[in-house]
Amino acid sequence: MPPQIRKEVPADIPSIEAIAVAAFLNAPHTSHTEQHIVNALRRSGALTISLVAELDGVLVGHIALSPVSISDGSAHWFGLGPISVLPEYQGHGVGSALMAAALAALRQRGAQGCVLLGDPGYYGRFGFCATPDLVLSGVPPEYFQALHLGTATARGIVTYHLAFEAMS
Ligand SMILES: CC(C)(COP(=O)(O)OP(=O)(O)OC[C@H]1O[C@@H](n2cnc3c(N)ncnc32)[C@H](O)[C@@H]1OP(=O)(O)O)[C@@H](O)C(=O)NCCC(=O)NCCS
Repeated sequence: MPPQIRKEVPADIPSIEAIAVAAFLNAPHTSHTEQHIVNALRRSGALTISLVAELDGVLVGHIALSPVSISDGSAHWFGLGPISVLPEYQGHGVGSALMAAALAALRQRGAQGCVLLGDPGYYGRFGFCATPDLVLSGVPPEYFQALHLGTATARGIVTYHLAFEAMS
């Protein structure tokens, strides 16, 4: 059965934290601060889109999107992540359903584009690809990927919200 995807409500917050902790526990390339990042984004009013995936009344996944800035001044670009699915529910389409809903929500807002840091083997299927035009300092370029949603071009150094430095 496909998961139900909906916007987060305050009562979801403890489950969202637990999902992030569990999903990233054994994931590669993690600082294990993803739950703190989501909380800090929320506190800062920068959690533009926060969706949960629910299966039989249980929250099993979460996706966050927040604004990014680009050094050329391009507006309406967003960073996707973190995205988390409880390990025991991975590989059953929950992540794909969250991705599809998040991208639809971005399009609805008139977003110009979206960037993310992640495995090209996973995100390529949603249309993301690495581009030399958009750079995130300090990461291998093939892992920093973009999806254009509007007609405007964007070129430069991308900066995520300060909340991505949250440690607690
Ligand atoms: C990445 C994640 C959100 C995907 O969610 P999911 O529900 O397992 O994804 P789906 O079931 O929709 O898709 C599964 C497919 O993605 C692939 N996949 C999952 N994670 C992958 C990764 N890191 N790299 C490459 N492929 C990956 C699976 O092999 C599977 O491929 P298939 O469809 O060809 O069989 C989930 O695995 C997760 O929470 N991982 C730990 C946290 C993490 O790494 N988040 C991403 C970084 S922000």
